[in-house]
Amino acid sequence: MLTLIAAQSLDGYIARPGQSGTDFCSESDAQFLRSALKDFDSLIMGRKTYDTLRQRILNSDTTRYLRKIVTRDPGNHASDHRPELIEFTDQPPSEILAELTQRGRHRTALLGGGEIYTAFLKAGLVDELWLTLEPMLFGGGTPIFSAPHEIAFELKETRPLSQNTLLLKYR
Ligand SMILES: NC(=O)c1ccc[n+]([C@@H]2O[C@H](COP(=O)([O-])OP(=O)(O)OC[C@H]3O[C@@H](n4cnc5c(N)ncnc54)[C@H](OP(=O)(O)O)[C@@H]3O)[C@@H](O)[C@H]2O)c1
Repeated sequence: MLTLIAAQSLDGYIARPGQSGTDFCSESDAQFLRSALKDFDSLIMGRKTYDTLRQRILNSDTTRYLRKIVTRDPGNHASDHRPELIEFTDQPPSEILAELTQRGRHRTALLGGGEIYTAFLKAGLVDELWLTLEPMLFGGGTPIFSAPHEIAFELKETRPLSQNTLLLKYR
């Protein structure tokens, strides 16, 4: 089961123009994410997203997740490699998920960024899409998806996380 989790501006950006990171996200979204991730046993993210979270991940003492970081050059990150906790891979999306399943990891969160969301969506592997809408327009930035690809979803749940922030869950 693969769940894509993202927070975006109203115009579909997951980071501000010329900036990386998710500091535009509200505290209510951060709280939701912290709590929601407790139900997952594995996380997948792209190398650029990893770079923005690297210190936090390296300092984290949780052993709950196997984190797969997708990069074209896993060897470049050997010093951050922690077996069963932080692993770098250049496998295609289907192989990453198959390997996680084989290792007993069945609840995986896809944490971005745009390139990695797109790769897994294009491969037809995303079961659910959990989207937090923050009430902002950026007019540019990192788009949630980096290439055209049409998929129809079904709305499963809507939940206000605060007066301003809306969570949409699709399957
Ligand atoms: N708002 C949110 O919910 C949210 C969530 C996540 C991230 N973000 C933000 O999004 C931005 C990063 O997104 P992004 O789209 O620029 O980058 P990304 O998806 O995080 O990472 C892109 C990297 O993934 C690797 N990659 C991509 N395709 C690959 C393939 N086919 N095979 C192997 N490796 C592949 C490459 O790493 P190498 O260059 O190492 O080869 C590529 O540079 C950051 O600013 C981050 O803070 C926001």
